[in-house]
Amino acid sequence: MSETTKSRATWSGKLAFVLSAAASAVGLGSMWRFPYLAAKYGGGMFLFMYLVFVFTIGLALLLLETSLGRKTGQSCIGAFKAFGKKYAFIGIFMSAVPFIIVPYYCVIGGWVTKYLFGYIVTAPEVLADGGNYFSGFITSGAESIIFMLIFMVLTYFIVALGVNKGIEKANLIMMPALIVMAVAVAIYALTLPGAMDGLAYYLIPDFSKFSPELVISALGQTFFTLSLAMGIMVTYGSYLQKSTKLTSSVSQIAGTTFAVSLLAGLMIVPATFAALGSGDAVAQNSGPSLMFIILPQVFENLGGAATIIGVVFFVLVLFAALTSSLSLVETCTSIISDGAGWSRKRSLVATIVFVTIMGVVVNLGYSSLSFIQPMGEGSSILDLLDFISNSVMMPIAALLTCVFVGWIIKPQTLIDEVRVSARFRLANVWSVVIKYIAPVVLVIILIAYVAQAMGLFSM
Ligand code: PFF
Repeated sequence: MSETTKSRATWSGKLAFVLSAAASAVGLGSMWRFPYLAAKYGGGMFLFMYLVFVFTIGLALLLLETSLGRKTGQSCIGAFKAFGKKYAFIGIFMSAVPFIIVPYYCVIGGWVTKYLFGYIVTAPEVLADGGNYFSGFITSGAESIIFMLIFMVLTYFIVALGVNKGIEKANLIMMPALIVMAVAVAIYALTLPGAMDGLAYYLIPDFSKFSPELVISALGQTFFTLSLAMGIMVTYGSYLQKSTKLTSSVSQIAGTTFAVSLLAGLMIVPATFAALGSGDAVAQNSGPSLMFIILPQVFENLGGAATIIGVVFFVLVLFAALTSSLSLVETCTSIISDGAGWSRKRSLVATIVFVTIMGVVVNLGYSSLSFIQPMGEGSSILDLLDFISNSVMMPIAALLTCVFVGWIIKPQTLIDEVRVSARFRLANVWSVVIKYIAPVVLVIILIAYVAQAMGLFSM
């Protein structure tokens, strides 16, 4: 983006926009969250639902958010307010989401930093000790806070350099490097003995695994990975020039994100299956710690190559995490700046203070605050924040947005905006998705999920 004489920045071109949006999208969601969810919810079935959601509701909402941003030239809250003060609440609700995500995102960024450091300075078997290394680290308090701070400082540093010099440059280097490394590690992982059975588990849907929980997780994952339902794509759209083709841009963003998630799964799920021996074992052992407990064991089995694979893998995840965390921090900064009318600098400082304090609290959730188990035995503050943002707030935000565009301002308003620079042959299909399909699906999923959570039925 380049700062214009007016206060609003614009992307330097379509490539910069697609790259930056894809860089925001491709992150821990694809590398860390997707593989453990796929492993947990029966491999192929989860992959299948994720595929369906990305290219239906995901793509439709991506187009909606970016065109809404470009039409109004405003970030999230302003974009809704542009159609009447009473709609500002939708933007405010969405804007709360990145503030919930970013502290725990940085905590996991800290875990990744620690493992990269670990592979550089210690023997791979130390990291592959069945979880003691990991639990020792996250319950350490001070050490895990230090690694989180290292991750945060890297993020703040890039954001402070500004959108042009910092964000665009960082993405231009890190994104291609990430894809090349991911392909290499995935190919290597598939050559491991037993990986082919794991590949079948990962790719072939088993419909008996279907459940409301799986569906809402796949949907939440779609929003999370595409950075949807949290205002960011509205903001990114507002930086767009009128000449940029929105339809092809959003397809490229969704395609890249799906491809990287698929690759991340290929790197992790078949190899984990090979190490644990069965799909059930994979599902049982899977959770947020998959990347930090099981994966080092998989690497350990590789013998001499373990260190190098470990380093390459965690560099890769660190790149993905950084390009996303900087977009999260950037989003929070612009929300504060637009909302409070503060300068960018002051808003960034406020964001940093908030994120750092909250990050410390999330971290302590594993040590001195571990008595807080908000989601049942053994759960953590991190689990709660992840659940509230992904499974509750994002589906509600997406529903509100669809109703707003579908029934209040009408899809035609945004179709006209898309058509300023692109042919939009699927406009009618898109209207139907926004007006009917997405809201109905979202309501059904939310009800089914709440019912399941309350124990009204089990699947
Ligand atoms: N899409 C990112 C991921 O999958 O890791 C997470 C994310 C980044 C969400 C930036 C929101 C955001 F503004």
